[in-house]
Amino acid sequence: MPLRVEIDRDLCHAWDAEDPLRGCRERFDLPDGVIYLDGNSLGVLPRSAAARLQDVIRREWGRDLIKSWTSAGWMALPAEVGGRIARLIGAQANEVTAADSTSVNYYKLAQAALALRPERRVIVSEAGDFPTDAYILQGLVAASGGRLQLKLVERTAIADALDADTALLALSHVHYKTGALHDMAVLTAAAHSAGAISLWDLSHSAGALEVDVKAAQADLAVGCGYKYLNGGPGAPGFIYVAEKLHAQVSAPIAGWIGHADPFAFADGFVPAGDVRQMLSGTPPILGLAALNEGLKTFDGVAMREVRAKSVRLASLFLDLAGERLAPLGFVAACPREAAARGSQVSLRHLRAESMMADLIAAGLVGDFRPPDLLRFGMTPLYTRYVDIFDAIDQIAHIAQRP
Ligand SMILES: Cc1ncc(COP(=O)(O)O)c(C=O)c1O
Repeated sequence: MPLRVEIDRDLCHAWDAEDPLRGCRERFDLPDGVIYLDGNSLGVLPRSAAARLQDVIRREWGRDLIKSWTSAGWMALPAEVGGRIARLIGAQANEVTAADSTSVNYYKLAQAALALRPERRVIVSEAGDFPTDAYILQGLVAASGGRLQLKLVERTAIADALDADTALLALSHVHYKTGALHDMAVLTAAAHSAGAISLWDLSHSAGALEVDVKAAQADLAVGCGYKYLNGGPGAPGFIYVAEKLHAQVSAPIAGWIGHADPFAFADGFVPAGDVRQMLSGTPPILGLAALNEGLKTFDGVAMREVRAKSVRLASLFLDLAGERLAPLGFVAACPREAAARGSQVSLRHLRAESMMADLIAAGLVGDFRPPDLLRFGMTPLYTRYVDIFDAIDQIAHIAQRP
């Protein structure tokens, strides 16, 4: 029989002491008395962000005014931010840029994908995934005047739903509720063998695990800047367009910033030669500056290490939950196998909503998703093993309260 090691608080402290990412916590301004397991929804404030934004506001905007578009590198900021995100998702710098919300970016890329397959009618996506993605696809169908059709299928039926009429396979890499992870390479290959374009929503995987869009041969992708990338509330989202498509795609919102030479102010639109053609309007400098600071928290960090710690944190959570929370009516609602999971764990409980409110009041921040899910995000740059130990303690305590 294998020897069973008792997990206690001291052991978690020992793991924290030897954690190769332990120094990264200093990069964040964490509030006292809070265990924050919601970085999958809104990342923690990077320590450098306030001073940097103050500088952007006071000096670059306040003093240097319009000169800052060049002197402070404002014009180049979408590309700088894009380059940092590219490293995290296995893309080239000229394939990623940052702008707009994830929803708007999703619209742009879905529309661009459909234009690449004008003779096909069907969009395949997953039922029950994050609503904005489905709503945008429904909007495209409505705008097509009956030409397009959206098939929302269960995750096990996705590959079988693809055929010669499929224009687009649009999926979230990691499911926002269950944390279930799709095999991007396998499903992209399935889309390609049906002749379809793939569009991935990386909101719950960029900065959370080792995404490799190049190895997976993904065509298009979007993602959020305010979750694992720590860009702040409402941070710009990002857009990835594989280089092989740069000459073929056309921008659905072809604004002047996506022009090959915006300052020529020409009457006719000539797209920039790379992902920049998907930019539409003036870059949101304050938001991009904050996102840039968020991305700097990954400086010198290998995503391999982030993923390894995320897996250990989640396994610790699930092991302790199995022992201490299962008898109290909690049921794991995420894949048990680490390879099938993103960087969050989800538990079901009949009283999930009121329990999450009580947990937050007690200083343990996760979130609730209807009807009965408690979500806890693992963010290895600032979450410690001891936080997981204390979180389980707190949940058990609250669940046992009369
Ligand atoms: C998977 C996924 N896609 C898209 C979004 C929406 O992004 P936004 O509101 O920034 O457009 C979210 C937000 O939580 C999300 O989880």
